Amino acid sequence: MTSPQRTFPKEFLWGSATASYQIEGAYDEDGRTFSIWDTYCRTTGMVLNGDNGDVADDHYHRWAQDVALIKRLGLQAYRFSLAWPRIQPGGSGAFNPKGIAFYSRLVDALLEAGVQPVTTLYHWDLPQELEDAGGWANRETALRFADYAEHVAGRLGDRISVWTTLNEPWCSAFLGYGAGVHAPGRKDPLAALRAAHHLNLGHGLAGRAIRSVLGEQAQLSVTLNLHVTRPVEPDSAADRDAVRRLDAVGNRVFLGPMLDGRYPADLVADTASITDWSFVHDGDEATAAVPLSVLGINYYSTSRARRYTGAGPKEQADGHGDSDASPWVGADDVEFVQQPGPYTAMGWNIDPSGMTDLLTDIGSRYPTLPLMVTENGAAFYDQVSADGHVHDADRISYLHGHIEAIGKALDAGVDVRGYFLWSLLDNFEWAWGYDRRFGIIRVDYDTQLRTLKDSAYWYAELIRTRQLPAVDEIPLRDPAGVTG
Ligand code: FCB
Repeated sequence: MTSPQRTFPKEFLWGSATASYQIEGAYDEDGRTFSIWDTYCRTTGMVLNGDNGDVADDHYHRWAQDVALIKRLGLQAYRFSLAWPRIQPGGSGAFNPKGIAFYSRLVDALLEAGVQPVTTLYHWDLPQELEDAGGWANRETALRFADYAEHVAGRLGDRISVWTTLNEPWCSAFLGYGAGVHAPGRKDPLAALRAAHHLNLGHGLAGRAIRSVLGEQAQLSVTLNLHVTRPVEPDSAADRDAVRRLDAVGNRVFLGPMLDGRYPADLVADTASITDWSFVHDGDEATAAVPLSVLGINYYSTSRARRYTGAGPKEQADGHGDSDASPWVGADDVEFVQQPGPYTAMGWNIDPSGMTDLLTDIGSRYPTLPLMVTENGAAFYDQVSADGHVHDADRISYLHGHIEAIGKALDAGVDVRGYFLWSLLDNFEWAWGYDRRFGIIRVDYDTQLRTLKDSAYWYAELIRTRQLPAVDEIPLRDPAGVTG
């Protein structure tokens, strides 16, 4: 039973999230150079319909209008990312004043609107030149990342509420370098593990650089997409071991170094046929364990796994697209089993219980670490109705279920500080291009018209009252709800 009366604490922060490559466009303006996603999009067959981020939501030019929408919805915080190739074209050497000026204006406008800026330094748009030199598989990239972080901290300074180093390093390392379904599209298990380590190292170095500029009080974070995987047969030791392996290469490969200061021994054993991990230098794990102010968690769905017996073709229903290479490095004898529905347009199963389980699990593993849900939301094939509105009841139902699930974690005593809905705007959904819409604001890609969906009004009401509205409780829509 869900309670329509659930009230959230006053201090609980409500926001929404986006990422630079997914919304900005202006791919070649004011000195910006190519990122690995510009290149990947131009590689035939990688992105659905051959879409790319050249224009996206044209946010680079329409940011003032977007900030006005954020204000109108009453969002208390806005999570966005910085495009490294805008700020430091090529990823090393001189910084580009025009690049940082764009974000400086955006941050000032957010503050002016009473919205806390929550910044991610890296949401996947690695400068192409760094990839040409080996990308995240190359240790040097972590050092470059720390230089970039130090520069940005100096420019945006104490105007930023929370500094997030990386978004979902699992996707960068294992989808980008393992399965090849994200940029840079490599399929090399060793490169994926090296990338994971250099992301951990880069996180630690960047976090320390930010603190060196802004002092110990700088709020530091990282956002992880932690996987909730359940055994097909909970009583089967083999299936439970399959889940342990996935937890190692899916979650603890980052939680270990970042929070415990060491890689898990079972992960090192599981991957022994691929590497001896000699790319981890003395002191790296301690560097990665820079103290965090808050841990960002992205949650969308769950999966089920079991030991693969070798009989029949292996199922790979892990929600990460089709590839002849697996992102689950060191877990070859594991198979994913299709989850029961309902599903979103991504094909991801809808399971709010996973949100409660994940938050309570991490809360018990790290009891003194505050948590923040930095992404949660759903893609559906929205339609614009004859009345000009988007009645996205399925999205509201998804949000209701998941926000209620966070309430349950709060009831259980987990220290969850806030919620960022993915996403503010429909945008470029990586390998799925513009086909999948996650926004609570619709974007018409022909005209760039923004339309508030019902979910936007519903979410605004939740923020205004701090009470979870019933799914059909959509406040009277502003007649001027459609904006150009
Ligand atoms: C996450 C990404 C985000 C968005 C959502 C749907 O993995 O961080 O950019 O694509 O998924």
